[in-house]
Amino acid sequence: MPPHVLWVEGSPKGDRSLSSACALAYLDGLCQAHTGAEVEHLSVWDDDLVPFGRTEARAKFAPIFGETLTEDQAAAWQLVEAEIARLKCFDRLLVSSPMWNWSVPYALKHWLDVIVQPLLSFTIDERGRHVGVLGTDSRLQLLLTRSSAYDGRHPEMTDHQRPYLEYVFGLLGYTLDATFVVEPTTRWPPEERERLWQSATADARRLGRRAA
Ligand SMILES: Cc1cc2nc3c(=O)[nH]c(=O)nc-3n(C[C@H](O)[C@H](O)[C@H](O)COP(=O)(O)O)c2cc1C
Repeated sequence: MPPHVLWVEGSPKGDRSLSSACALAYLDGLCQAHTGAEVEHLSVWDDDLVPFGRTEARAKFAPIFGETLTEDQAAAWQLVEAEIARLKCFDRLLVSSPMWNWSVPYALKHWLDVIVQPLLSFTIDERGRHVGVLGTDSRLQLLLTRSSAYDGRHPEMTDHQRPYLEYVFGLLGYTLDATFVVEPTTRWPPEERERLWQSATADARRLGRRAA
């Protein structure tokens, strides 16, 4: 079966985004290797995300506390359920994201707040451990960029981007293929940034070609 991929684009920078350029190169490689691969795209910036605010936060805990959903909550919750159901149709998830303030951009976090739901996307076993139910038949590729290097040379700088994304998708049951990190992305002069762009996208294309 050719892969059915959802690319979740976390950068708002369009054709100036290195993480998005790596994602496009990865998909190019993947489509070369897998005839008939189907790719869909979700921009957490440009597409209308399912709202998640007061109504949804109250709806999330109503069943846990034995409360009946109000009409508004029930309508809002249907959208959350539909987004999770839509995700189940993909056997591959590609998430590209820059680091923003040591974590992920808020628009990507918004989408995660929609899809991470007890009972719908993960549950808890008899020993209290989280068990993913959303991504159990799906693979995950992460493509991450950040301006600085988080390689231990500056231990005072903490990376909440990579560990957070690996944790949250692991909790949902996804199997991580690989995390591809490009860092540090802030380089001088411009020729050096161009060299980085070329080598990072070439590496991402190779990763896509090798994706089983
Ligand atoms: C709002 C904002 C916050 C950022 N915070 C960090 C940060 O905490 N650490 C870091 O190393 N880079 C940070 N950066 C830099 C980006 O992660 C970096 O430029 C990355 O390469 C951008 O990737 P993109 O081109 O795919 O958007 C930040 C950039 C922006 C716009």
